[in-house]
Amino acid sequence: MFKLNDFQAYKQNDKKISMVTAYDYFSAKIVAESGIDTILVGDSLGMVFAGNENTISVTVDDMIYHAKAVKNGAPNSFIIVDMPFLSYHSTLAKTIKNAGKIIKATNCNAIKVEINSEHTISHVKALIDAQIPVIGHIGLTPQSVNIFGGFKIQGKTTDEANKIIGFAHKLVEIGVAAIVLECIPEQLAKTITNQINVPTIGIGAGKYCDGQVLVFHDLLGFEPNKKYQFVTQYANAYGYLTDALKNYKLDVTQPKLQFIENLG
Ligand code: KIV
Repeated sequence: MFKLNDFQAYKQNDKKISMVTAYDYFSAKIVAESGIDTILVGDSLGMVFAGNENTISVTVDDMIYHAKAVKNGAPNSFIIVDMPFLSYHSTLAKTIKNAGKIIKATNCNAIKVEINSEHTISHVKALIDAQIPVIGHIGLTPQSVNIFGGFKIQGKTTDEANKIIGFAHKLVEIGVAAIVLECIPEQLAKTITNQINVPTIGIGAGKYCDGQVLVFHDLLGFEPNKKYQFVTQYANAYGYLTDALKNYKLDVTQPKLQFIENLG
C-alpha cells in the first residue's frame, strides 16, 4: 500500500504518482483493483456525482458520507479527502475540528486543501501542526470559481504565475506532502516541479508533473458531452452502459423477438 512518505520517495526516485477520484464503494473498488497509487475523494463529487454547476455547496458531511463508502471499497488504498468550501476558512479551531471530523469518521490518510490566499496557508499550517497530513491544491482551485469568474486556466500572466509559485514554496515550507497543480500552463508546472522537493500532481498542467490525477468519470467517458482537452478518455462508459441497458430493456419487453434476431 502507498504510504505518506512514498510521496517523497517517489519524487526522489523519479517515479510517477497516479491518482484517480472515487466517490462510492464500486468506483473505489475498481480504482484499487487497477493498482492506482492513491484515491482522491474530491469535492468534484458536487458536480460529477450530484450534477451541480460547481463545488460550492458541498459540505463536510457530504465528504464524510462519500469517503466512508470509498474506504469500504478500497480499505487498503491511500485515500485523500477534500475539505469543502468554507470548512477551513473561518477560525483555526474550526479548521482543525472539521479536518479532525473527516479523518476520524472516515479513517482516510490525508486531506486536501485548495489554496488561493495567504489566509488559507496559515490554516493549512495549523492542520499540519495538529499532525494531519495535507495535500495542497493550487492553480485553478474550483472553490474560487466566483473569484476567478469561471473555470479558467490560471497562471497565464507573470503576476499570476509568480503568485502560484509563491504559494507552492510556502506550502513546501509548512510541510505539505504533495501539491496538486490544476489547469496551469505546462511550463509553469515544470518550473514549480523543478523548484520544489515535494511532488506535484497535475491535472491539466502538462507532462512534467511528478504525478497525474483525473476524475474517474472523465477518464472513463461517463459524460458524452463533456470533453476536456487534457483528458484522454480510456473508455466509453456512457456508450457501454446505455447499450447494456438497451439490451436489457429489449430482453424484458421483446424477449422472443430478440431470440429470433439472435438466430440470424
Ligand atoms: O475535487 C477534485 O476531484 C479535485 C481534482 C480534480 C484534483 O480536486
